[in-house]
Amino acid sequence: MIKHFLSLSDLSKADLRAILDDAHAMKAARLGQPKGALDKDPALSGHTLALIFEKSSTRTRFSFDMGIRQLGGSSITATSSDMQLGRGESAADTVRVLSRFVDGIMLRANSHDTLTELATYSDVPIINGLTDYNHPCQIMADLMTLEERAKATHGKDLSEMTLSWIGDGNNVLVSFVNAAAQLGYALRISSPEGYRVNGQTLEAAKAKGANITADLTPAEAAKGADALITDCWVSMGDTDKEERLAAFPPYQIDQKLLKTAAPDAAFLHCLPAYRGQEMTAEVFEGPQSVVWDEAENRMHAQKAVIKWCFGK
Ligand code: CP
Ligand code: NVA
Repeated sequence: MIKHFLSLSDLSKADLRAILDDAHAMKAARLGQPKGALDKDPALSGHTLALIFEKSSTRTRFSFDMGIRQLGGSSITATSSDMQLGRGESAADTVRVLSRFVDGIMLRANSHDTLTELATYSDVPIINGLTDYNHPCQIMADLMTLEERAKATHGKDLSEMTLSWIGDGNNVLVSFVNAAAQLGYALRISSPEGYRVNGQTLEAAKAKGANITADLTPAEAAKGADALITDCWVSMGDTDKEERLAAFPPYQIDQKLLKTAAPDAAFLHCLPAYRGQEMTAEVFEGPQSVVWDEAENRMHAQKAVIKWCFGK
């Protein structure tokens, strides 16, 4: 059976744990190495992945490309506008062709339906590099970062942590919701009305045993939490920028709110960030911000995701 990486809700606790452990181990093994150096165990030798983008990307693009090189494989990057996909060729036809050329495909898609169509017709593993619905690679990096931070501070396991999402109920939050049951962290959510997380996703996670409290005020969400997490107020593809900029200011994370969290609380943001909107510059640049480690960990976590897809 082909192992696609489409949603964290598809993965078991053991799968998630194995990917995180591998990511930590690979990161540690590369300390001090040039970034282009091959890993000691280049698990992807002889493999080529296609990296396809329907939307802009900095982190996903560079982290996948470098990660694949470190694993001994190679990549081909294309935007959909370079491809017939951008002129109306279906995802189903595209992937039946690409499956003949490459060993795996990472797709960043406008619509989650395009990703599932690709996976349905693919003969090779498909990895989700963000859709309008979720962003599972990001959350693997975020969980890895939370574990690193915990090791350096309070020492808690993920299952003992309280994570607080303050801001838009968007694709990044969906992936935190999707892994909550398996990993056991408590998730608190504070989003303005009209911008709350997908109700079906929330109910499905709760039915699996996730400890999630939604519809909180920012103050309720932040109090004593181990991490405050947010994202931009206007995601790629959102067309209601003015309404959003009017609705979100009470949800800005500032130093006053961060002080109400646990003393060692981490501030996370997937980037790109907009200082003065979802958080103040003081919080973003402050000592509790782990955003650069979080960005670096995209690469380590995705290498482990790729290896998991290939059973390596
Ligand atoms: N966080 C993230 O996915 O960044 P990019 O959009 O730059 O890939
Ligand atoms: N929610 C953001 C994440 C960007 C990495 C977006 O979809 O634009």
